[in-house]
Amino acid sequence: MTETADDTTTADQALRHLRAGRSLVWRGDFHNGRQLLKAVDRRLNRQAQKAQKAQKAQRNAPADATALFLRQRADRADRADVLGRILVELGEDYTLDLRRAPDVRDACRHAYGDDHPGTVPFTELQGVLGAWQWHQRGVWVEELGDHIYPDYGVFSPTRSEYIGLVAALADEVAGRDVLEIGTGTGVLAAVLARHGATVTATDVSPRAVVCARRNLERLGCEVDVVEADLWQDGHRADVVVFNPPWLPGTPTSDLELGIYDADSGALRRFLAGLADHLTDGGEGWLVLSDLAEHLGLRSREQLDQWIAEGGLRVVGREDTAPRHPKVRDADDPLHVARSREVTSLWRLSV
Ligand SMILES: C[S@@+](CC[C@H](N)C(=O)[O-])C[C@H]1O[C@@H](n2cnc3c(N)ncnc32)[C@H](O)[C@@H]1O
Repeated sequence: MTETADDTTTADQALRHLRAGRSLVWRGDFHNGRQLLKAVDRRLNRQAQKAQKAQKAQRNAPADATALFLRQRADRADRADVLGRILVELGEDYTLDLRRAPDVRDACRHAYGDDHPGTVPFTELQGVLGAWQWHQRGVWVEELGDHIYPDYGVFSPTRSEYIGLVAALADEVAGRDVLEIGTGTGVLAAVLARHGATVTATDVSPRAVVCARRNLERLGCEVDVVEADLWQDGHRADVVVFNPPWLPGTPTSDLELGIYDADSGALRRFLAGLADHLTDGGEGWLVLSDLAEHLGLRSREQLDQWIAEGGLRVVGREDTAPRHPKVRDADDPLHVARSREVTSLWRLSV
């Protein structure tokens, strides 16, 4: 059932409707709508924290990192579901007919193209506007001496330390045939191509394929970008590079395709298939954060086993510690796990 909400609707009233499974189409002032979202979110947050405290008291022992992480993710999904039922209507040409509304037409055209969604969650529209800003501003990539422009729903290289891991070895790829799997914005393909490699790149996300093609063309890198699940059929490369989604879990959006990998399926299939996609003496470069290990979602023994089962051996490993602000946030309940995170480039050979 759908109701309308406007400047006279209080956060408590809105929350009651939402908790009863109803959707609310926002008809008030744009900025008041944002305030309402924030107020409802604060209430949902407080409810989740209360529930967590009650659970903790019942258990009488601190929850482990795995339980905490899964709980946080479930709470976030619940909040996203409830908040996602506050909707806004987009006009035919993507105008937003609300008082004090910004011009959202370019941002919506970028995110939705001809696939006009009609009515969208207000939170989604905020994401679309945020992504549009990043898309216009770009992300500076030191290793390229240039910007990369992420698209809506494409993994953005804002946590950049892993690029350094690849760049540090990139002289080795000059004149060699490289396959980059899961190219996202195309940032690693660009670094590799700039070092003289002949690069083919794949991504399972059509948005990423479009985004990578545009970035690579702008940077003057001749890279063939194909939509594919891991491999490009029949292609064997001297070096196969993959920076996969690093947390086991089911992705719930295009963007999460870059972070979550259901049952580590992509990682496992990559390790199982790598030997068949390398030329003689070729190497796989797997860029992987060990955060999943600190969260108890995947063990080092499992990773070692998958490597061995793929008929592979580790011929080298370069490590780096993430520098993003979350690592230093001591108030984050997952601080201990995050502060121990190491991202490695595993060099794998047959
Ligand atoms: C962590 S992001 C890395 C993106 C980019 N290579 C970078 O380093 O910034 C992982 C990427 O892998 C892609 N991906 C996930 N599963 C895949 C699969 N089975 N085949 C190809 N690409 C996949 C995602 O769409 C995402 O773009």
